[in-house]
Amino acid sequence: LFNNVPLAPVDPILGVSNAYKQCTAAKKVDISVGAYRDENGKPYVLKCVFEAEKRLLGAPKEYLPIDGIPEFNKVSAKLLYGDAMNGKEKNMVTVQTLSGTGAVRIGIIFVRKYLPAGTTVYISNPSWANHHNICKESGVPSAQYTYYDPKTRGLNFEGMIADMKAAPNGSVFVLHLCAHNPTGVDPTKEQWNVIADVMKSKNHIPFVDCAYQGYASGDLDNDAYSARLFLSRGFEMFSAQSYSKNFGLYGERAGALTIVSHNEKNIPLILSQVKMDIRAMYSSPPTHGARIVATVLQDPELTKLWIDELKGMSNRIKYVRQKLLDALVARNVPGTWNHIVDQIGMFTYTGLNPKQVEVLVQKYNIYLLASGRVSLAGLNDHNIDYVADAIKDAVTS
Ligand code: LMR
Repeated sequence: LFNNVPLAPVDPILGVSNAYKQCTAAKKVDISVGAYRDENGKPYVLKCVFEAEKRLLGAPKEYLPIDGIPEFNKVSAKLLYGDAMNGKEKNMVTVQTLSGTGAVRIGIIFVRKYLPAGTTVYISNPSWANHHNICKESGVPSAQYTYYDPKTRGLNFEGMIADMKAAPNGSVFVLHLCAHNPTGVDPTKEQWNVIADVMKSKNHIPFVDCAYQGYASGDLDNDAYSARLFLSRGFEMFSAQSYSKNFGLYGERAGALTIVSHNEKNIPLILSQVKMDIRAMYSSPPTHGARIVATVLQDPELTKLWIDELKGMSNRIKYVRQKLLDALVARNVPGTWNHIVDQIGMFTYTGLNPKQVEVLVQKYNIYLLASGRVSLAGLNDHNIDYVADAIKDAVTS
């Protein structure tokens, strides 16, 4: 019966972090998955999360409503859209999801079912690999739009705008809120304004993936600029939020999908359909992570503690960016490496080619993505020199 099941390819991100876990070498480094580690390379539970968990001890384990915890949905929309909401609450619906992936998945299914047949979802080139998987598995046509310029190691803004203009009117564009994954290259505010103009003129629909709010500039409002711009410019749009990185709630699967409609009357209808999809897929979301987020964001003192801790995490990543650059420069590693500090967020898109990555993995047990993406959170004072020596060897051998 099952003789024809082919072997699926290993996931380009989680497969690498799994290979790291299997590796038995005494000296090994994991710079693959985008998950924060402290200065000793250990996973970190935020103090505000710990405090919220103390308060939640013994909370009921009953099923949540299909669309999740109402207070969580409210604080999530507020965190992302802030003052830009300005009375638009009635035109928005937010549901709790299985983190950012769940939010993208539910949103993309909605695109397939309720946007005109054949609506194409445009994904940046490159992007988080799972965007492609989700579109494929949801039966939604997808295409890529120009984003990164390997020559400048920056944004190919002209190419991006040209592709937006060339796409059929009413296409969906998946845009990274901030701290673009994998490149760490974001449009400037001025460029976002132009993007919004072009998207408006083409009736395109923004689908904003918000996995790193707080990690780009260290300022939650500043990082939310693009989503707030689209909302205040009157777009009908989607946003997918993840609390994996900014709250460190990776395995708790806490996230939110928001859909914005011009017509307030559509909101209960949209909600009814989204709930039906959730019910059929996993019935209702998990309780714990969303309760933590709601507890923290409804308490001013815990919110302040969270913001401080988030700044601490993003500052440590900035620190290791500089350290890595200094270590490569000190070793005279051929090439230019300034992009390491110019890029933002959790990653640096190093420009290392697959052969060089192979040297790092095979010879040094340093696990990074084949694309050359490095999760800086995995670097610290104990392993940066080792990684810099290995990069020198990979680049020069
Ligand atoms: C990553 O890009 O490493 C993270 O978003 C984790 C994941 O699920 O891929």
